[in-house]
Formats: sequence, structure tokens, C-alpha cells
Amino acid sequence: MKNGIAICPGSFDPVTYGHLDIISRAANMFDKVIVVVASNKNKTNSFTPLERVEMIKKCTSALPNVEVESFDGLLAEYAAKKGAKAIIKGLRAMSDFEYEFQMALTNKKLNPEVETLFLTTSAENMYLSSSMVKQIAAMGGDISSFVPEEIRQDIIDRINSK
Ligand code: PNS
Repeated sequence: MKNGIAICPGSFDPVTYGHLDIISRAANMFDKVIVVVASNKNKTNSFTPLERVEMIKKCTSALPNVEVESFDGLLAEYAAKKGAKAIIKGLRAMSDFEYEFQMALTNKKLNPEVETLFLTTSAENMYLSSSMVKQIAAMGGDISSFVPEEIRQDIIDRINSK
């Protein structure tokens, strides 16, 4: 028996192997996982929400119980609308903790029905971030260890068109 619906929210600008590891592990635990490209007002993104959705779809096509959407609003309300039981987040180093803890407590206040669950990032993805991928791509570096082949060229083209 699995556990109903979970949502995996994030900026995903762009999605990396770190995110995909968390998404696939969540997909093993829940009947359905909705990956939601949500808006983080503290970040300036390189890709539009639709582009980010399309990239995640390309990378998760082998996971039948994963859906991908974008949403511009409060995550707690989105979770309620979808009947989600859990919000799944990956935790990397300690530096993630305070920010993630604050978001989890805020979401719990806004929607007491939904639990935030943290999955520990796999060791190889501990220091991987979307902004690092963009920096490496901008300097002509090799991003093959960080993002799947399906979206590699999209990222390189976009970063170098700026
Ligand atoms: O990948 P990120 O940028 O760390 O993800 C943060 C995100 C997008 C999940 C967060 O900013 C969010 O939930 N945005 C939706 C708006 C919202 O609900 N804000 C209050 C969260 S406490």
C-alpha cells in the first residue's frame, strides 16, 4: 500500500539529478506525485514556468505516477486543492535546514492537513544546485554529471543566449 498524493514543489530552474533523485524516491512511496513548479519570489529565474515544466516532463517520462504542473500561488492552498497528504522536499547540507524548516512550519500553519517530509539528498548530490549548473554552463563547463541528457542542450542554449 502506498500513501496517496504527494507534491514535490520547487523552482527547478533547471531540474537537476538532485531533484530527480528526490522525485523518483517520492514516486516509490506515494500513489501519485505531482511535481509543481512554484514561484519563489526571492529568486530570478532563467527559464519560464512552462519551460521548466517541459524539462521536468522530459526527465520523468519513465515514471508513470508522476505529473508535472506549474502554479503561481500559495503552496499550502495548492496542496489542499490537490488533496495531497505530503509536501516532499530534499535536504542537502545544514545550510538548507533553517529555510526549509521555516517553510515547513509556515505551510503547516496555513494547511494543518499536509505534512512536510524531508528526504536526505544522496551523497553525490549533496552540493548540487540549479544555480551551480547555470554557472558551469555559462562558462562552457561540462554539466553532464548534473542534468540528464534530454535537457542538457536546452540549458546550454538558453544560458549562452543571454
Ligand atoms: O526550489 P526552491 O526555490 O527552494 O522552492 C521554494 C518554493 C517554490 C517551494 C517556495 O518558494 C514556495 O512554496 N513557493 C510558493 C509560494 C508559497 O507558498 N510561499 C510560502 C511558502 S512558506
